[in-house]
Amino acid sequence: MGRLEGKIAVVTGAAGGMGAAAARLFAAEGAKVMLVDRDAAVLEATARAAGPADRIAHMAADVTDAGAVENYTHAAVERFGGLDIAVLNAGITGPNIPLEDYELEDFDRVIAVNVRGVWLGMRAAIPHMKQRGGGSVLMTSSIQGLSAMPNTSGYTTSKHALVGMMKQAALELARDRIRVNTVHPGFADTPMMKRIHESAVPENPKAVEDALSAGIPMRRYGSSDEIAALMLFLASDAASYCTGGTYTADGGLLASWGPTPH
Ligand SMILES: NC(=O)c1ccc[n+]([C@@H]2O[C@H](COP(=O)([O-])OP(=O)(O)OC[C@H]3O[C@@H](n4cnc5c(N)ncnc54)[C@H](O)[C@@H]3O)[C@@H](O)[C@H]2O)c1
Repeated sequence: MGRLEGKIAVVTGAAGGMGAAAARLFAAEGAKVMLVDRDAAVLEATARAAGPADRIAHMAADVTDAGAVENYTHAAVERFGGLDIAVLNAGITGPNIPLEDYELEDFDRVIAVNVRGVWLGMRAAIPHMKQRGGGSVLMTSSIQGLSAMPNTSGYTTSKHALVGMMKQAALELARDRIRVNTVHPGFADTPMMKRIHESAVPENPKAVEDALSAGIPMRRYGSSDEIAALMLFLASDAASYCTGGTYTADGGLLASWGPTPH
C-alpha cells in the first residue's frame, strides 16, 4: 500500500523540476494529484508522464491570480472529491543584481509569485482540508529562506517570508489537524538552476555548477527526486506530529559557515 493511498493533492510549479518529481512520486504512492503550472505546454506533457490518467489531472494557472487559484483548487476537489495535501511550490528567482539596482517591478513580481501565490493557494485549500478533517500544506522555500546570498534580495526576502507565513498558519490550523511546513532545498538539479548557470557563464554553464558544488559538504547538487522524497514524508501520515517546522535538504550546506576543506 502506498504512503499516500486515498489522499488528494495539488502541486503547483508542477511543470518544473521539483513539482514534477513530487507529482510523480505522490501518484506512485497512491495519491490523486492535480498538477498546476502557468506553462501549459510543458504541464500537459508532465501530467501525461506523471501517472495513470485516473489519478492525474492538470490545470494551467498563474498562482498570482486569486481567481485562477480558486479555480484550480475547486477543480481538484470536483475531480477527485476533496483535498488533503497542497504542495505550494511554484517559484521564480528574479534578477541576480545588487540591491540598489534591483527594480521595483522585479521585486513585486518575485513577491507576487513566491509569497502571494503561496498564500492564495493555502487560503483556498484550508476549507477543503477542514472538511476532510485535516491536511498537509507544504511551501517550497529555499536555503535562502534561512540565510542570504548576494544579489538576490527579492528571492531571499520572499523565501524568508514563507517561514513567517508557515509558522502563522501552523499555529492557527493545528487544532484543525492541518499541518503546515516549509521545505528548504539547497542547490538542486532543475531547469531553474540550469537557467542560472546559463545566464551566469553562457560559454561554460557546467563551470558554475562545479564551483557551487565545491562549497557543498556533499560536493554535489541534490536531485528533484531527493527533494520530492522530503515532500512525501511531510505530506504523509508518517509526519503526523510535524507542523510549524523548517526542513532542509541541502547536502549539509547550511551546517557550514563557508567552504569545507578537501
Ligand atoms: N532548483 C533549486 O536549486 C532550488 C533551490 C531552492 C528552492 N527552490 C525552489 O523550489 C521551487 C521549485 O523550483 P524548481 O527548481 O523546480 O524550478 P523550475 O523553474 O524547474 O520550476 C518552477 C515552476 O514554477 C512555475 N511557475 C513560475 N511562476 C509561476 C506562476 N506565476 N504561476 C504558476 N506557475 C509558475 C514555472 O513555470 C516552473 O514550471 C521554487 O519555489 C524554487 O524557488 C529551488
